[in-house]
Amino acid sequence: MSSPSFPSINKITVLGSGVMGHGIAQVSAMAGYQVVLRDIEQSFLDKAMEKIRWSLNKMVEKQKLTQEKADEIFSRIKPVVDIKQALAGADLLIEAVPEDMNLKKKVYAEVDSNSDQKTLYASNTSTLPITEMAALTSRPTRFIGLHFFNPPQLMPLVEVIPGSKTDPAMVDMAMEFCRKVGKQPVLCKKDVAGFIVNRVFIPLVHEAAYCMDRDNASMTQIDSAVKFRLSFPMGIFELADYTGLDVIHKATVEMHSRDSKVIYPHPRIKQLFEEKNLGQKTGKGFYEYKGNKYERINLTEEQAATYDPTKLLAVAANNAAWLVTNGVCSREELEKALKLGMGLKKELFATVQEFGPQNVVKALRELAAKYGSFYEPDPYLVNWRG
Ligand SMILES: NC(=O)c1ccc[n+]([C@@H]2O[C@H](COP(=O)([O-])OP(=O)(O)OC[C@H]3O[C@@H](n4cnc5c(N)ncnc54)[C@H](O)[C@@H]3O)[C@@H](O)[C@H]2O)c1
Repeated sequence: MSSPSFPSINKITVLGSGVMGHGIAQVSAMAGYQVVLRDIEQSFLDKAMEKIRWSLNKMVEKQKLTQEKADEIFSRIKPVVDIKQALAGADLLIEAVPEDMNLKKKVYAEVDSNSDQKTLYASNTSTLPITEMAALTSRPTRFIGLHFFNPPQLMPLVEVIPGSKTDPAMVDMAMEFCRKVGKQPVLCKKDVAGFIVNRVFIPLVHEAAYCMDRDNASMTQIDSAVKFRLSFPMGIFELADYTGLDVIHKATVEMHSRDSKVIYPHPRIKQLFEEKNLGQKTGKGFYEYKGNKYERINLTEEQAATYDPTKLLAVAANNAAWLVTNGVCSREELEKALKLGMGLKKELFATVQEFGPQNVVKALRELAAKYGSFYEPDPYLVNWRG
C-alpha cells in the first residue's frame, strides 16, 4: 500500500477510544496492523480494551477466531495516554474524538505539533466539514474523511470523503485501507453536509415526525409502512431510537448549519434530546423500552396497509437525487451506501419506480406549495429516466 509520496501503512494510531475508536482499533488489529489506541485517561482506555477483549471472546465462542488468534490480535493494540508516544512512527492517524469542532481544532493542533512528517490523517467525523478540518493542519493534501458506521466491528460500510485539497493518492490509500480492514468503501466525491447516508437518513427522521402531525398518523403506523412498504430494515422512529437522539440532534444542528436546504428540522428531535430521552440507551426516545435489552417494536403488515408512505419516500428520494445530480456519488454508489449503511432491502430508486416517479414528484410539489423550498423536487426525479 504505497505510492511514491505515500508511506506503506503498517502502524495506525486511533485517537479516542469511545464507541467508534475502540471498534476501529479492533478491526485494524484484526487486519494485521500495529495499533496504538490513545485517549486522555487511562480508565477510558481500560474500558475500551475490556470491550475489545469481550468482542474478540465472542468471536472465539462463535468459532470465528481461535483463542490464539484472538490473543494475537489483542496484543497488537497498545493503549497509550501520552500523545508523543501515541503518535511516534504512525503511518496513519484515525481521529475519533467527540463531534465538536472546537475540540477537533484543539486535537489537531496537538497532533500536528507531535506527529511525524509522514503521518497521514483521517477523521471519523459524521458531519463536520473535512476541508475545514484539513485546513487546520499542516497537511491538507494528506487529510481525508473515513466515516465508519456504528458498530465498526459489524457495519460493512465506510464513506471515504476527500476534502477540496486531498491528494488522489490519499483517496486510493483510504479505499485500499478500508478493503484491507474488511469494509466496503463508498467514495463520497464531495465534502457535502451529511455525506451520503446521513443526508438521506437524518432528514427522514424529521419528516416522519411531520407525518405524525400532518397526517394524524401513529408512530407504529408510519414505522410499519416504512418497514413493509419501503423495504427498510426497521421503522424510521425505531431506527432513530436505535441510533440515539443525541447523535441525530447533533447531526441535525451541524448539517443544518452547513446547508439549510438539506433538512427541515422538526422540534420534537431537539425536545427529546433536551429531555435526555435519547432512545434505546436511555429507555425512552420516540418509543418507551423496558430494561436494558435491545428491543424491537411490534410492526405489522396490517398496520402498514393503513398508511401511505409516499411522502417519506419522496423526501428520501429527493435528498438521494440531490447527491446524484450534484456529482457527490453515482446512483450505484448511492444504492450501495444505503444498503450497507441503512440496511435497505430494496434499492431506493427501485421503490420510487414501484410507487411511480410522477407520484413522488407530485407529493414533493404539494409539500413545497405548503411548506416551502426544502421540498422542491430535484431535476433527477422530475426528468426521471428509470
Ligand atoms: N457514535 C456513532 O454512532 C458514530 C458513528 C459514526 C461516526 N461517529 C463519529 O466518531 C467520532 C467519535 O464519536 P464516538 O461516538 O466514538 O464518541 P465517544 O464520546 O464515544 O468517544 C470519544 C472519545 O474520545 C476521547 N477523547 C477526547 N479528547 C481526546 C483527545 N484529545 N485524544 C484522544 N481521545 C480523546 C474521549 O475521552 C472519548 O473516550 C465523532 O466524530 C462522531 O461524529 C460516531
